[in-house]
Amino acid sequence: MDMDYFEKWVLKEFNINLSAYKSNQLHRRINSLMSRVGSSSIQEYIELLKKDPAQKQKFLDFITINVSEFFRNPEIFEELKEKLKSELLKNNNSLKIWSAACSIGAEPYSIAMYLDEVSPGGRHKIIATDIDNTIIERAKKGEYVDSEIKNVKKQYLDKYFTQMGDKYTMSSKIKNMVTFKKHDLILESYDKDFDLIVCRNVVIYFNQDVKDNIYKKFSESLKKGGLLFVGATESIYNYRDYGFEKASTFIYRKL
Ligand SMILES: C[S@@+](CC[C@H](N)C(=O)[O-])C[C@H]1O[C@@H](n2cnc3c(N)ncnc32)[C@H](O)[C@@H]1O
Repeated sequence: MDMDYFEKWVLKEFNINLSAYKSNQLHRRINSLMSRVGSSSIQEYIELLKKDPAQKQKFLDFITINVSEFFRNPEIFEELKEKLKSELLKNNNSLKIWSAACSIGAEPYSIAMYLDEVSPGGRHKIIATDIDNTIIERAKKGEYVDSEIKNVKKQYLDKYFTQMGDKYTMSSKIKNMVTFKKHDLILESYDKDFDLIVCRNVVIYFNQDVKDNIYKKFSESLKKGGLLFVGATESIYNYRDYGFEKASTFIYRKL
């Protein structure tokens, strides 16, 4: 029994398309996970996933890799703030923003805090999505630890978080600016008319065809002049093929 069989089983059982991932990297990671839990064959591992909900969750967490933090790569986040101020907010106080693959919510909440600061009274709509329901529930709760908030400036920490021991809770004001939904970037269709799409540190795990399709769909989902903000290792070299121009190192503008 091989990885092809396992991939089909995972698609049927969990509705996750593993064939979209870079295969060498994925197989290496699955093999290492299997040996960590003591399964010596794919069949044995499938049996374990069927009968043990904790192992099932562990596998899903492992596949989705949901490490995140507020203002991830702060110097790059500054570029986004600058573009929000100098372009998107110039003549618009009701931006439609999508934070795709948002994980624990640190990304949409970072944008929401910034908007609350520079565009108070704005009627912005921030939609945040992820494939993983468990992480969405965590995002909605809005509770964070030190390592996740390490790039949050003191003025934001004081204004938008309540600290209890080693736990920081996001204020309801900021939480209410974000709507969370489950969404699979590979298998589902995309909403339209966005001013800004933020999608960072997820396409890096996907193969070229899947990435290609995602960038095409992002482009179709953006308004003319809308921006796509990608991760610090995810520069798009053929951005022109998708109808983008470069707005800054990791930001692309829809033509
Ligand atoms: C490493 S985190 C990135 C979080 C955040 N964007 C950041 O840069 O800090 C990757 C996230 O992508 C999500 N993800 C993985 N595959 C996905 C898919 N097919 N559709 C939507 N989200 C997906 C995972 O659940 C995880 O929360």
